[in-house]
Amino acid sequence: MKKFVQKLTKKHDSQPVRLLLILREIQAQYHFIPQDAIEQLAQLLHIERTQIISVIEFYSFFHLTARGQYDILMSDSITDHMLGKHALMDYFCEKLGIEIGDVRADGLVSIDNTSCSGMCDQGPAGLVNGYALTNLNRSRIDAIVELVNQQVPVNEWPTIFFSTTDNIYKRNILLESTITAGEALKSAFTRGLKETLHEVEISGLRGRGGAGFSTAMKWRFCSEEAETERYVVCNADEGEPGTFKDRVLLNSYADQVFEGMTLCAAVIGAKQGFLYLRGEYLHLFEPLQQILQARRAQALLGNNILKSGLDFDIEIRLGAGAYICGEESALIESLEGKRGIPRNRPPYPVTQGYLQKPTVVNNVETFFAAAKIAVAGGQAFADLGTKKSKGTKILSISGDCERPGIYEYPFGTSVNEILHDCHASHAFGIQVGGPSGVFIARDEFNRQLAFEDLATGGSFIILNEGRNILALVKNFTHFFAHESCGFCTPCRVGTALLQKQLDKIVDGHGSAGDVVALEELCQLVKNYSHCGLGQTAANPIISTLQRYPEIYQKLLKKISYEPGFDLDGALENARKMANRDDANAHLAQVEEENE
Ligand SMILES: Cc1cc2nc3c(=O)[nH]c(=O)nc-3n(C[C@H](O)[C@H](O)[C@H](O)COP(=O)(O)O)c2cc1C
Ligand code: SF4
Repeated sequence: MKKFVQKLTKKHDSQPVRLLLILREIQAQYHFIPQDAIEQLAQLLHIERTQIISVIEFYSFFHLTARGQYDILMSDSITDHMLGKHALMDYFCEKLGIEIGDVRADGLVSIDNTSCSGMCDQGPAGLVNGYALTNLNRSRIDAIVELVNQQVPVNEWPTIFFSTTDNIYKRNILLESTITAGEALKSAFTRGLKETLHEVEISGLRGRGGAGFSTAMKWRFCSEEAETERYVVCNADEGEPGTFKDRVLLNSYADQVFEGMTLCAAVIGAKQGFLYLRGEYLHLFEPLQQILQARRAQALLGNNILKSGLDFDIEIRLGAGAYICGEESALIESLEGKRGIPRNRPPYPVTQGYLQKPTVVNNVETFFAAAKIAVAGGQAFADLGTKKSKGTKILSISGDCERPGIYEYPFGTSVNEILHDCHASHAFGIQVGGPSGVFIARDEFNRQLAFEDLATGGSFIILNEGRNILALVKNFTHFFAHESCGFCTPCRVGTALLQKQLDKIVDGHGSAGDVVALEELCQLVKNYSHCGLGQTAANPIISTLQRYPEIYQKLLKKISYEPGFDLDGALENARKMANRDDANAHLAQVEEENE
């Protein structure tokens, strides 16, 4: 092992910023990170061993104790649940002879849950040694168990088990016609870089990762920083359950995404770019490396790109199973080889990003769109959409519809039209924007896709009549509690309490007072958390409590109140109490008096 770690560290130039890459390879080799390797890394990289351990503990794909030679993870997205994941997981465990979370006594295999693996249109999905498994069913599981027991190497398993499809059903300006390699850069160099930035400005392009910040403004701010060492980062962490459009863009349109990154580098004056690829998309790593290599061969990366004088290259950095690393400052920390703890902002990455240098972080789709804009001009893009939301949005649609997949719509398109196109004829509600988004009810289906109405990073999870909406809320609330990075108390403790309180109500042990306490807790987590994860963690509860209070009420412990007793008044009084303990005591007394 000593030689292995030594060689590996050398391969990564003994750079502490490359710690995650090094740990990934050790984990793949030994199925955990041995203590001896930690000691050795501490010496070779000149960092504290405690720091290395804290990084290992932070990322869910690293382990301090051995996982199985075949480490199987089942995706735990609500869409996987809707496709029968629970029963399949039970079947898998039974066939393997182990429990969830366990390693089999022979050390050959382990199985556990993992957060959404980004295959919601082709689930139930999973991962084996990091590689995506799709369309799991009993017969595939039988075959997998056999392959494991026969100790067949994963790269010799039937390729069909790993096949992923794009499922693109609706194309507009971006997906209808893509650019050829180098076309955007040639256009930009001919037109002029300042003029090209102006075209991005005219297009009105806003970030597609969720927040919707003006892309031209972000690039301009970064280019105006006095510091000349600048970076471009493409955020391909795509951890929001229900979102998979970036996977498709990188699977079939990576050249255009890399072109957008290179365009950005030309505009802001960066020499180095990173694609931060979520660990769950390991299957894309090699194909993407090949595309980068081909671009270098075509003088589209490297020194003096297209003889323009621009030097720029892109490196792919893999994540290791942490949703929070999609938050841009946490992503930058992760790129630097650390735990993905969100930084205080300001300063924003455009002034102090990677290695404290000015950095543009954009979503995959944003770079993809920017490259097109450089070729077609900003106006063609701005002609589509609404006043505040220009162009189109690429959606990942999953759940109860006949055609789950990728859809591109001009902003301003109504939810009704989208439901029609994906053949969702019995929709009862939709989770828009993933767990951190909002649940909309049937009477809101005339709403529009737009930053000023229904803003979304791109996820639509459709639920039919008859689905258990609280199963969705429970799944999302558990997701946030699991993914909280633990840095700040309101989120670390708050998300755990939300989970506990919600479970109590869903399991039928809650009273009216518990719903009030839940509402209060939601506000606390929302208002006092440090970053976007905590600030949105209560959204699934808040948006369903607002729309479907009766669903929660139905689950409450049956307490028959005195005839004429004013329960609403008692609840209102409790809500007004400044102190939660007082409110709870008040409600407990009300219940006691009535029981
Ligand atoms: C918890 C959390 C997770 C996020 N995950 C992603 C993600 O997976 N991909 C992404 O592009 N942006 C994500 N974001 C938003 C990024 O912080 C950032 O705003 C975005 O990458 C900027 O790119 P854009 O301007 O092109 O949207 C996330 C934000 C939060 C708070
Ligand atoms: S809000 Fe949650 S995820 Fe964000 S910093 Fe605090 S603990 Fe971490």
